[in-house]
Amino acid sequence: MTESDTAPLFHHPDRNLALELVRATEAAAIRAVPFIGRGDKLAADGAAVDAMRAFLGTVNFDGVVVIGEGEKDEAPMLFNGEHVGNGQGPACDIAVDPIDGTSLTAAGRQNALSVIAVSDRGTMLDASSVFYMDKIVTGPEGIGVVDIRKPIGENLRALAKAKGKDVGDMTVAVLDRPRHAQLIDEIRAAGAGTRLMLDGDVAGGINAARYETRIDMCVGIGGSPEGIVTACAVRALGGLIQGIMAPKDDVERQKGIDAGLKMDYVYEAHELVNSDNTFFVATGVTDGGLVEGVRRMGPIIRTHSVVLRSKSGTIRRITADHLAAKWLEE
Ligand code: FBP
Repeated sequence: MTESDTAPLFHHPDRNLALELVRATEAAAIRAVPFIGRGDKLAADGAAVDAMRAFLGTVNFDGVVVIGEGEKDEAPMLFNGEHVGNGQGPACDIAVDPIDGTSLTAAGRQNALSVIAVSDRGTMLDASSVFYMDKIVTGPEGIGVVDIRKPIGENLRALAKAKGKDVGDMTVAVLDRPRHAQLIDEIRAAGAGTRLMLDGDVAGGINAARYETRIDMCVGIGGSPEGIVTACAVRALGGLIQGIMAPKDDVERQKGIDAGLKMDYVYEAHELVNSDNTFFVATGVTDGGLVEGVRRMGPIIRTHSVVLRSKSGTIRRITADHLAAKWLEE
């Protein structure tokens, strides 16, 4: 029996919490639907934020937003440091991304998700003072095999060997950005294929860590908040994630240092989230490789969600049919 098994339950997030949290990502995804393909990403995000916050208020936990919509003066809701939940129950850190893929949503593209990650209080790295993080994510086979400091070709060969595959059969997810041009060239020169993502590297990272996908690795520079959220999921999946802060300039670098972040330092999974009690819930806004998006089917609205819990290693898929009339009348 571990220490956390014998501790009073109310100190730690327990399994019921994940099922409560999924109501908040479902709500955010449903409220984002009218904005899919309408070209207004701020309106989509605003609707998702409102819905997520309202549902979080009913959840039996005492959460502090570590990764949120930003500083209080620019984000009136779900700002970093805000207390969410009904104030009772387990004390937690929470990372929210009401929509990962706001541009995808506004354009009507695939792979937009509504996401929440939770861990024990005081265990999530507040990486928000530096916007970008360089990351590498793989499944469990990458642990002790892959290292973000090594050239990508070397990592690909090592991971392929560990997975018993040819490098030519490996696929690497990378955000399609000019900053990744050289990285993409190097992946292809090593013989692997790329899956270029328009946006949404949370889903990319999770798909790299899951065993049943075609993605073997997710690499490159994306949002640092997304890195923390991904770390919560990867810990539940038993995969590998490493991150290095990637400040845009010296000013941001200093801001990060002042906030206690280490530069030129490889953050391992347990430093991104220092807890073996993490939860990750995501509901599809638009269809994607991880989950399907919200669908209106006559009198119901169907949502698809995934719930990961590190303590048990369980991956739950939840399909929910919501009465459309209830959502329309509110
Ligand atoms: P938003 O939906 O919050 O805009 O984030 C989308 C996203 O693609 C993230 O998944 C990713 O980490 C980040 O933006 C990358 O940033 P940038 O678009 O500046 O390269």
